[in-house]
Amino acid sequence: MISKTLDVKKKNIRISNSKKFTIVSYGCQMNVSDSEVVASILKSIGYIYSHNISDSELVLLNTCSIREKAEQTVRKKLESLKSIKKINKNFKVGVLGCMAERLKEKFLEEEKIVDLVVGPDAYRDIPNLLKEIEYGNDAVNVLLSKDETYGDINPSRFNTNGINAFVSIARGCDNMCTFCIVPFTRGRERSRDPKSILAEIYDLVENGYKEVTLLGQNVDSYLWFGGGLKKDFNKASDIQKKTSLNFSKLLDLVAKNFPKTRIRFTTSNPQDINDTVLTTMAKHDNICNHIHLPVQSGSDRILKKMNRKHSSKEYLNLVNKIKKIIPDCGISHDMITGFPGETENDHLDTLNLMNKVKYDFGFMFKYSERPGTLAARKFEDTVKEEVKQKRLSEIIDLQLKHSFENLAKYIGFNSNVLIEKESKKSHDHWCGRNPQNIMVVFPKENFKIGDYAVVKILTNTSTTLIGKAIKNYKE
Ligand code: SAH
Ligand code: F3S
Repeated sequence: MISKTLDVKKKNIRISNSKKFTIVSYGCQMNVSDSEVVASILKSIGYIYSHNISDSELVLLNTCSIREKAEQTVRKKLESLKSIKKINKNFKVGVLGCMAERLKEKFLEEEKIVDLVVGPDAYRDIPNLLKEIEYGNDAVNVLLSKDETYGDINPSRFNTNGINAFVSIARGCDNMCTFCIVPFTRGRERSRDPKSILAEIYDLVENGYKEVTLLGQNVDSYLWFGGGLKKDFNKASDIQKKTSLNFSKLLDLVAKNFPKTRIRFTTSNPQDINDTVLTTMAKHDNICNHIHLPVQSGSDRILKKMNRKHSSKEYLNLVNKIKKIIPDCGISHDMITGFPGETENDHLDTLNLMNKVKYDFGFMFKYSERPGTLAARKFEDTVKEEVKQKRLSEIIDLQLKHSFENLAKYIGFNSNVLIEKESKKSHDHWCGRNPQNIMVVFPKENFKIGDYAVVKILTNTSTTLIGKAIKNYKE
């Protein structure tokens, strides 16, 4: 490794000629998981991960396009990288992920600092693209794939606590919710070979990981029949159909093979989750009792305009079924306010639905028009910004109230917690999650990260349970 020190504006800035790289991930967990795949690819050609951007020769931003604000955050980051590029000509900037896919070659024109643009299905091409940059050529690959799942690549977990890991089981989305950019940026749905999923989890467990979260845009619609797009399942041979593996079978397989490992999964689309998934969850102690079940709106009229495939009544029936089969199941949601044409009545329907479900927590957003989506083409973004904001505040307030009430019910009871990290607010406290995915904070005592603790809950806020550990509950 050769490195030299330049005196720039009287500040010592170290510029390294070694092949160090950094990846910054924005947006969903899938991006975190993809960044680990990219890190593995870069390592295989001699790059070394660094936490420090100004120390790196290559910085990759794994971007998100889900809302305009997410894209603005990335553009601001690009702006901030300009000062490094000015003093280090070797410093290369790449954009990966959904914004790369959405903007394609345009990215190179719009953001002069960008050297490399790679879409979510083209990461294997990064070594070649890096060579193209060296030759002074444009380096863009945004081809989407029918069967790329990166199943054979063992992700390099460069930013890990050694306890929790994401395991990607499917890519893409065929649902075409009218507001959503994901089907355009991540392509059609395809599932990963279960053998490679099990092999990855085996490796994680061998290395001391205690919890895996199975990831997919719609995990419940996982379907392995030998590879290829999910929409081509009907064209598969009889033997492929007979030996196919759906999500509940995969979940069962994972839970059985790794009985000491906590299993989570996300995200569940209400239209795909079925009874067998619920009974499989109920059957296995190591599958965490939490379902993230985005609903987006409580109004049937809006759900239809969003191309969601269920009514509010069907959704509520599903919630009741979950509570019947898994009585202590945590349920969370995603909600959008101000979808085109949303009236005050539609908004009231959303508040009503929330009052019926009483979610444990949720992620709530103002509608953000995404170019090229069906909603952007068909519907005008009519709801005024102040109205979107007011409705958003109302649903957030209601959610905080429900969260507080739900969390207060834990007081006096014990929760099983896997210790993940130090509490942000206190060096003397650990922080972990209970099976319902609620944060639990308690004094460290003799426990360490990765331990399982039984914590007696003493008090709560609307986001956190606070208690005292009474014993280890495993090993
Ligand atoms: N199934 C996916 C959903 C991805 S998007 C998953 O893996 O989570 C996450 C959430 O962002 C969606 O559930 C939706 O609530 C929100 N979202 C998507 N597109 C949006 C838009 N155009 N404006 C505002 N919120 C949006
Ligand atoms: Fe987006 Fe709907 Fe798929 S929210 S990711 S199109 S399920």
